[in-house]
Amino acid sequence: MNNRNDKAGLSDADVSPTSEKRMPFECQAWLGLQKHADELKGVHLKDLFQSANRFDEFSVSQQHFLLDLSKQRITGETLSKLLGLAEEQKLASWIEKLFTGEKVNASEQRAALHTALRQRAGEDLWLDGQNVTEGVHASLNKMKLLVEQIQSAQWRGYEGSPIKNIVNIGVGGSNLGPSMACGALEQYAPAEIRHLNVYFVSSMDGSELEKLLPTLNPAATLFIISSKTFSTVDTLANANTAREWLLKASKKPVEIINQHHFIAATASPKAAIAWGVPEKNQLLFWDWVGGRYSLWSVIGMPIALKIGMDNFHKILKGAGIMDAHFREEPFETNLPVLLGLIGVWNVNFLRIHAHAILPYDGRLAQFPSYLEQLEMESNGKSINRDGQRINYQTCPVLWGEVGSNAQHAFYQLLHQGTQAVMCDFIVSAKRYCGETDGLQSQHQLSLANCLAQSRLLALGADALKKNGQTANYQHYDGNQPSTTIMLDELTPETFGGLIALYEHKVFVQSVIWEINPFDQWGVEQGKQVATLLLAELVQSSDDGLDASTNGLIQYVRQQHKGGDDEG
Ligand code: F6P
Repeated sequence: MNNRNDKAGLSDADVSPTSEKRMPFECQAWLGLQKHADELKGVHLKDLFQSANRFDEFSVSQQHFLLDLSKQRITGETLSKLLGLAEEQKLASWIEKLFTGEKVNASEQRAALHTALRQRAGEDLWLDGQNVTEGVHASLNKMKLLVEQIQSAQWRGYEGSPIKNIVNIGVGGSNLGPSMACGALEQYAPAEIRHLNVYFVSSMDGSELEKLLPTLNPAATLFIISSKTFSTVDTLANANTAREWLLKASKKPVEIINQHHFIAATASPKAAIAWGVPEKNQLLFWDWVGGRYSLWSVIGMPIALKIGMDNFHKILKGAGIMDAHFREEPFETNLPVLLGLIGVWNVNFLRIHAHAILPYDGRLAQFPSYLEQLEMESNGKSINRDGQRINYQTCPVLWGEVGSNAQHAFYQLLHQGTQAVMCDFIVSAKRYCGETDGLQSQHQLSLANCLAQSRLLALGADALKKNGQTANYQHYDGNQPSTTIMLDELTPETFGGLIALYEHKVFVQSVIWEINPFDQWGVEQGKQVATLLLAELVQSSDDGLDASTNGLIQYVRQQHKGGDDEG
């Protein structure tokens, strides 16, 4: 069995700790939860729903959100034991460390202060002798200035024409958050800025630019290079292609192009200068903002361009309200704490390692991809905060899709497959108020499907009789746990709150699992190997490569040779 399978086959309880230090599974609460999970083993969700007040008991309504946990495989005892685990793992003190700028990102020796990006001006927070809030607002003010210049046609391209197209070039956290927000909140764009088109380009192979550029007028197109490090090859490759296109179309010197057509949103001003973005076109943030937590910073500039700076501030406000809730609300009714603990229960005690994200709202189509990065890049770890290898499960595999589309794709597996899967259903109670009857009834239809699916997943359906025979293939076992998150309405504020809710959920789980959610060392090695292989593709040395990589490179070279010969 290889190492990966070994890992997957591990039982959390069986393994002894690798050092003197106590592991989470040695906590009293953990052991208690294990015993409790054993006792609940034969209990089906439909048994739990025998209690008439289950919804009242396991749903919490706070801050424009209703969190319904009643379709989770829990009892009151489960929740109180999970809260005990949070206490034993000192969650309250970790939350304070997070908000006050302690170096919670130990491997990189820095704070993770995305919450400071949502603080109002005047709510001072000091870090290493600097007033963080002041810096945050100075940076947002510069962003506002540039946004206004572009929206009011003061910013001009190389021929003096106003900007019509904005292309955000970035990847991961420098793409997913802003792109998702623009898709989700488009309807809130004020009429006076609707003439601006905002596009997103991320893939390193150039396929998005190849399609997009021929449709744009170069003289009226502005690129935002969004990159915290300003060293991500994917982004730099796309930025170089974009600049080449502008230079060719304009026949202007590169300085003019850089000045009129490129803005950088970055935490690495020197690298941006070296590439050619002048200081006045730079919007800065800080190394204490993780890439996947950066949409609240100047990385959010495309959002402000698309829906306006006021709406961008509303997003920040909604996240700030969720921050205060997370920091102050008792854990029993604290949304991120409950969401995080339920995930731990499913992963570590019910051994469910797949998590489907199912928004019943086309506006949130990109939410699953956003969460894939947020959750898996944060908590996909097997080393604890002390650098020890751990032997219990952490982040599950997440994926998802707009729920109603997923019904016609992978719900078959959810209902009748062999995998236990936990699901998050996300839906708004209200939509299309004041719109046509047709749209309003489409919302009802979508809501009905959302409720139907979570109900069927929980309760199952007995086999139907066919020709007097029980048809097994029509049987739905049920007992698949799910959470429903119902927003009153999707607005910039609730959108901000929803994202912050999941950010904090991820933090809660990291505390229970004793891992650092703010680094991502697992993505580094691949970048280095790719650099080596790029050289190999250009000039093969056959040195030290495995047979598969070598074989594939030879095949590519042969194909090129064949093509060249034909040409
Ligand atoms: O490679 C992973 C990663 O570092 C993510 O964490 C990050 O969001 C993305 O790349 C982009 O990084 P940057 O903003 O520095 O270009």
